[in-house]
Amino acid sequence: MADKKIIAVVGSTGSQGGGLARAILSDPNGGFAVRAITRDPNKDKAKALASKGAEVVDANLDDVESLKKAFAGAYGVYAVTNFWEHFSGEKEKAQAKNIADAAKAAGVKHVIWSTLEDTRNLMKPDDKRMPMLQEKYRVPHFDAKAEANAYFSGLPVTYLVTSFYWDNLYMFGLAPKKDDKGVYSWTFPMGDAKLAGIAAEDIGKCAYGIFKAGSQYQGKTVGITGENLTVKEMGDKLTKGLGIGPVQYNAVDANTYRGFGFQGADEMGNMFQVYRDFEKHVAGARSADIARQLNPQLQTFDQWLAKNKSRIPL
Ligand SMILES: NC(=O)c1ccc[n+]([C@@H]2O[C@H](COP(=O)([O-])OP(=O)(O)OC[C@H]3O[C@@H](n4cnc5c(N)ncnc54)[C@H](OP(=O)(O)O)[C@@H]3O)[C@@H](O)[C@H]2O)c1
Repeated sequence: MADKKIIAVVGSTGSQGGGLARAILSDPNGGFAVRAITRDPNKDKAKALASKGAEVVDANLDDVESLKKAFAGAYGVYAVTNFWEHFSGEKEKAQAKNIADAAKAAGVKHVIWSTLEDTRNLMKPDDKRMPMLQEKYRVPHFDAKAEANAYFSGLPVTYLVTSFYWDNLYMFGLAPKKDDKGVYSWTFPMGDAKLAGIAAEDIGKCAYGIFKAGSQYQGKTVGITGENLTVKEMGDKLTKGLGIGPVQYNAVDANTYRGFGFQGADEMGNMFQVYRDFEKHVAGARSADIARQLNPQLQTFDQWLAKNKSRIPL
């Protein structure tokens, strides 16, 4: 361990950080070690990482001093914030600033900041196609991350632009639903546009590829996708891969979706509308080729589905 480069992994018990931690731990001769950061070292996911050789460290993104201690002596930091725990763009930015400040104090050699684009740059401020949320954001969890990019300047940083997790089908309740006649359907405001998607586990594997590449991606923005598919194409693949009746796609208007009333419906409505209205921009900012260079095991939707079909509630 002493001669290995330590990567302090924020979000180690979650999707992105967990994928990175597992990628490093499954490559014992790769030259890197995992310092898994969590608020609760006793939770099962933290214990599972410890059992595979990770050092588990208690720190909180709201407490910069705890992060400074957690990053001390580390070579690299994987930085991710979890918007969906609090739904606040301001809080997400404050947590990102704490990570950046602590990484500066610790003098780390490489930070990967998991970010997204500033969707406000895609529309004029008076564009009425979607509401402003939290007073100043179009898609708060995108725009706040993009604003937070500035905190990382001055660090040897790679800005990692991620894509929609296919795992949302089981983690976020987005799988097709069966009605009482046994017909499967799902509803998105995506029209015929392609959604840039990725297996959540592959994000961490790509991040590991970035750390392994040393300085190559420092100061750069790297956008990754697994595959860009329309909702119809995804539904057809689910029909085939899960062996269920045809999945019907209800393509609704974004306003209708925003009005569905679940927590975050307005946020998700705006996000899907960005994916739909700015399809070319979103696709242009993300590359499956680069993701595959970083992570040769990058999965397609079909490959991800074959591995995860038992997790999808039917
Ligand atoms: N879902 C998608 O399709 C998608 C796509 C692109 C980007 N994203 C972004 O991904 C982010 C979430 O990442 P994820 O999916 O990897 O998260 P996740 O699986 O929900 O797990 C959240 C992780 O963040 C850690 N965490 C949260 N608050 C913390 C705090 N105050 N201090 C320390 N650790 C904290 C948790 O650690 P402990 O609980 O163990 O402390 C946990 O490891 C979101 O901001 C979202 O916008 C999501």
